[in-house]
Amino acid sequence: MFNLKTTLKALVYSALVLASVSAVPVSDHPSVSVSAEFPNAIEGLTPSIISGEANKLKVTFRNSGKTDLKVNLITGTIAEPDDFNNVIRNLTSYRYSTVLKSDATLILPYTIKVDHASREVGLTLVADIIDSTKNHFPVVVYNSTVTFSEPMQSWIDIQLIFLYILIAGIFGGVGMFIKGTLSPEAKKPAKKTPAMTPEEREAALEKMKVLDEDWIPEHHKKSPRVTKRR
Ligand SMILES: *[C@@H]1O[C@H](CO)[C@@H](O)[C@H](O)[C@H]1NC(C)=O
Ligand SMILES: *[C@@H]1O[C@H](CO)[C@@H](O)[C@H](O)[C@H]1NC(C)=O
Repeated sequence: MFNLKTTLKALVYSALVLASVSAVPVSDHPSVSVSAEFPNAIEGLTPSIISGEANKLKVTFRNSGKTDLKVNLITGTIAEPDDFNNVIRNLTSYRYSTVLKSDATLILPYTIKVDHASREVGLTLVADIIDSTKNHFPVVVYNSTVTFSEPMQSWIDIQLIFLYILIAGIFGGVGMFIKGTLSPEAKKPAKKTPAMTPEEREAALEKMKVLDEDWIPEHHKKSPRVTKRR
């Protein structure tokens, strides 16, 4: 009797051990869904990243599983758009070590700050998720194309357009002045609009120049075309 009891106990115990041993290596991929939101994104268009500026993304994690998880870190790479394995740059990894509760949503920031020429690239962001048994799982946050653009590009374009108009106006004015001095009618004293003397015109142009330079922001005066490219 005594022996049978011990044997039974041992059998039950070993069965339990076996069950737990076989349970350990089987760890399901956590039920977590992730999405990334780009600043100033327009629905249906490729997200754009401004070169050299801090682009703050909002990463939303949703844990629909029964156990709590932990968001360890988010890493990122920039690759050629036609071959995501051809990595151009490694992005800064951010460590969060934040608990993502069961049946809950968590929003974390991820900042991309890189100098890059204006063009399309492949962006891959992967989060490292740790489950309750300390297993690590890579979860894709974003894996698609984005477009790099220059900062303040539109502002420089507007400035150039205004400069062209200004230059065209100056040349137009000079042309009319020359035409006016050459045509015989202009020599007669005009009643309505007296012609400017060369000195007056020079002064007027000088005044325009001063106004023009005031209007251009300080940091664009020296070399508006110089932009870092890599
Ligand atoms: C990115 O990082 C990986 C490993 O961390 C390294 O092998 C690779 O050379 C890096 N790529 C670039 C473009 O820096
Ligand atoms: C990202 O997408 C590219 C192409 O669409 C694919 O080759 C690559 O395996 C994907 N990477 C991940 C981590 O899903």
